[in-house]
Formats: sequence, structure tokens, C-alpha cells
Amino acid sequence: MANWVSAGSVKSLQEEKAKVIKGGIGVFYHEGDFYAVDNRCPHMGFPLHTGSLCDGILTCHWHHARFDVCSGGTLDPWADDVPVYETKEENGELWVNQAITVSDKKEKYKQRLMKGLEQNLGLVIAKSVVGLINADVPAQEIIKIGIQFGTTHRNHGWGPGLTILTAMSNSLPKLDTQGRIQALYQGLRRVAGDCAGQPPKHLTGPLSGFSGNADRLKTWYRNCTEVRDSQGAERIVLTAVESGMPDEEISSMMMTAATDHFYMDAGHLLDFHNKAFEAAELADTGLKKSIFASLTPLFSNAVRSEELHSWQAPVNLVTPLKAAFQEIDRLPFPEDPVPFDEKELLEVILSDQPITMIHALTETFKNGASPVKVAQIVSLAAAERIVRFHIQNDFNDWITVLHTFTHAHAVHESLRRTNEPALIRAVYHAAVSVYLDRFLNIPSTKRPVGQKEDEPLIADDFLKILDIQQQVNEAGQWAANYLHQSKDTDALFNTLGHALLREDADFHSYQMYEAASREFDLWSGEGEAEGNTLAEYAQETMIIAAARYLAAHAPTAREIPRVGKIAWRLHYGEKLFEENES
Ligand code: FES
Repeated sequence: MANWVSAGSVKSLQEEKAKVIKGGIGVFYHEGDFYAVDNRCPHMGFPLHTGSLCDGILTCHWHHARFDVCSGGTLDPWADDVPVYETKEENGELWVNQAITVSDKKEKYKQRLMKGLEQNLGLVIAKSVVGLINADVPAQEIIKIGIQFGTTHRNHGWGPGLTILTAMSNSLPKLDTQGRIQALYQGLRRVAGDCAGQPPKHLTGPLSGFSGNADRLKTWYRNCTEVRDSQGAERIVLTAVESGMPDEEISSMMMTAATDHFYMDAGHLLDFHNKAFEAAELADTGLKKSIFASLTPLFSNAVRSEELHSWQAPVNLVTPLKAAFQEIDRLPFPEDPVPFDEKELLEVILSDQPITMIHALTETFKNGASPVKVAQIVSLAAAERIVRFHIQNDFNDWITVLHTFTHAHAVHESLRRTNEPALIRAVYHAAVSVYLDRFLNIPSTKRPVGQKEDEPLIADDFLKILDIQQQVNEAGQWAANYLHQSKDTDALFNTLGHALLREDADFHSYQMYEAASREFDLWSGEGEAEGNTLAEYAQETMIIAAARYLAAHAPTAREIPRVGKIAWRLHYGEKLFEENES
């Protein structure tokens, strides 16, 4: 009897028809029977005992969600089902069993998450994430569910939703609990949104009886992507996985094809490849086929930048790039990389001398520089464009500099994963894109210099700045001042994460946050930040760039994160409606 509580006399309940008892349980007398449900509407917490009950359907009066009072199941899936409780009569008294009988909470939340993904129900996804995290299910397990769903329920292949989910998964260590829940929920919600109304993906299957070698598959794969044959490419990828080709070689095969043309789809094609390979590292081996196969549709309509006018005139960049690629063709990764003047190369990349820059890159590679290091410098140059982006530019131009930066970052990460010489071409693509963005730095915004403030700065103060529109320069200056007085960049990244996750962020803002925080970390490696002025400069650049970009895109209506907050508060029994009323 430990969980049973008295709801009062049967007689008085029959007269009252509905009342709330201990534990926030709504008890109803209807059509000769008693029912008990969680009195907080699962949608937004409205007190259900004030709703109406007719023909067994309990209707909430706030947004009119309908529930079967017996099972708790809803006719309006956006509201979610309401928990119900057992009742019994004894000696003229009604008793309610407060324990909700769920045999396996984790399994229940996983099933709810799948329902939320299938039906694109934000609240159900958010509640499932909160439930799973509180049931101590590792975030990685939750992410795997999203990756599996996203790669098998979208015939168009890998999309922004899966990219956001993977980016947010990488960002979890930067965030506190509330931030992690928002990151997971928003990533999963975007995956569900991408798949809504789409035909599912049915894999074609590998070539049965294939007896060739890896080189043969690589050649076929490039030939297929060259003619935009995504089905043929898919069969080759599946054959590669089936035949046990190591991931490193599959990555090499696919990344080569992804760089056979210049800066495809404004860098998204390579960026999506990079994220898919990161997702493959997170997911189970069994998911690799669907993850890799989800990339092949991207080639179907990808824009090849060498065909664009801007890459051909007024300066023809295509011919010198092709000449450079011949010069470095199959140049192996140096076992013992030779240092180079990183600051000088950075200046050349940011200059308006593209041919000089292409030659400088070629010489740097031929002299034995690390391709990873060169890619890191190109990423820094791309971030510098965001730091110097003038707010008198067209608002949409933010996306142009963002594309270059996230592509450069993806190249950097891909080179860290794969020693594929063909991938070095993407370093040039990124550097040329930095050059093409130069007019977005004319006039150039002055780089903020950190100044001492009278009051110590707290990371959360940053959020107040972003409550007002277009505080781009103020946000950049604040970030510089913060770094001038504090070394607590963990707190700062958590705050920047909240600045992202409390808005109705678009795809690019997620990319910005993750790329900047990741590049920041990579400059910290091997003690580079200590006494290395370029590393310090680079880290400051990443933070100022992220702060400015986020400020340019805030505030919004903040509707998406609100759903995540509601899920959190409902889970912890907070009163939402009453607060709303007051
Ligand atoms: S339908 Fe009940 S709170 Fe919205």
C-alpha cells in the first residue's frame, strides 16, 4: 500500500466530478467510473481538472489537446500522452496508486524518441531527451538513435539536420546539463524536420561476388561521382564496406571524389562528408553503410565552383589551380614535417594577390610542410574574415564568410583524419574562397583590442548584449575584453553555447559555434597556446568570430528552445501554467 493515497470518499467525489489530490493527480468521476491522471497537461502544464470530460475524452482548455481519460493516450500527438494512475474503491473510499508502472524507463523513452522523430514532434523529442539523460543514458546512445533515423529516413541523403546533430554532439563537452539537453534536442529535432514527409532510404546493396581490389573500387567511385551517378556510387560504397575496406581507405576514396571539383556547393559537400565521417566514429559499425551511402546523393546536383564566373574572372583562378594540382600531384604527407613561417603565409592568404598565394601554397607543400598545419592557417584566415566583416555589408553576406570558414575547418579536420594527398586540393579551394571574400572586409572592421573594464566581466553578461539586435561590434569588443581579463574560456564557451541554443538558430549558426570551438581547441594542442603568440591570436580570433556571428543572428523569437525548457520543467514537476498566469 506504500504508493496508494486516499482521494477521499467515493460519495463526495461522485458529487465533485473532478478534483486534484496529493502529488498533483487529477481524479475524475465519469460515466460511473473513477479515473486518475497527471493533472499537468503534458503539452504545457495546464491543470487538466479544469478541462472538460465528455464521452471518455478529457479536453485541456488551453490548446484543446484531447486525451482518452482511461489510457492517457492523446488524439493530438503534438501534446504527448498523459500518465495515468490505477484507482480502487475500498470501504467507501477511493484510492489512487501514485506509482506509474513502467517496467523499463530507458526503453520507454527510447521508444518515445523514435515516435517523436517519426512524427516530427518537437515536444516528444525534447521530453524523451530529458527523460533519457535523467535515466543516465549516455548522450552517445541518444545520438546514435538520431543518426540511424536520419540516415535511413531520408532518400535525399545526408542533410543539415544530421550535420547539426553531429556538430552538437562534438560540442557537448563545452556545455552544462541544460545546454547539453538543448543541444541534443535541437539536433534531433532538426533531423526529424529534414526527414518529415521524405521517402525513406532503401539501400541498393553491394555488388555481389565482387572480387576486385580497393583501387578498382576507388576508380569506379570517382567515375560515378564525376557523372553524378549517385546510385552507382552507392553500390560501390556498400561494396567497399561489405568487402572490409578499412574506414581510412573509404574516407580516402570518398574525400578524393569530394575534392575532384572545386569548393562544391559552397563548401557544403565536403563539410557534410567530414561530419558524416565524424558520425561514423560515434555510431555502431552496423550503421556505416547507411552513413556512407547517405553521402552519394549529394553529388547529383552539386555546384562545381570552377564553373562559376567568380572563379574565372576578372582573375582566372581555375587555370593556376589546375597547374598547382599537377605540381603537387600525389605529393605524400611528410613523415617529418618542415616548419614554415605561419604568419607570413597567413598574410599571403589574406592578401589580394591570389596567384602569389597559390604559388606560396605550392612552395610550402613542396618544402615539406604539414598539410594539416597549412589547413589550420587557412581556417584562421577564414575566421579573420568574420572578425573583420563590416556590418554595412548585406546581411546575407554573413553566410558567405561563414561558408568559407566552415569549409576550411572541415578541410582541416579531414586532413587530420586522412592522409590522402588528393585532399590537399581542398586547402587551395578554401584559400581561394578566403581571397574571393576579401570585399566583405572592405571597409574592414577594426579588430577589437581587449580593454580592462572597471567591473569584472562575467561570461553570462554576454547574453544580455544579445538581447538587442545587431550588437555585432559590441559583442566582439566584449569578447576581447573578457579574454583580456579572464582565462576562463570554459565558462565563455558554455555561454556562447547558450547564446546559440537559446535562439531559433539557423543551420549556419550551429556550424559557426562548433567550428570556432573546435579550432580553438586545436590551437591549444601540444602547448601551442603557451608563449606562442600566433596561437593566442588564433584562439582570440575564433572567440571573437563566434561572438560576432552569433550577435548578428540574435535575438529571435526563441520558440525552439522554449519547447526544450518546457520539457525540462514538466519533467521536474514545475508549474508552467500558473506562472504564465501570474
Ligand atoms: S493543450 Fe494543454 S497545455 Fe496546451
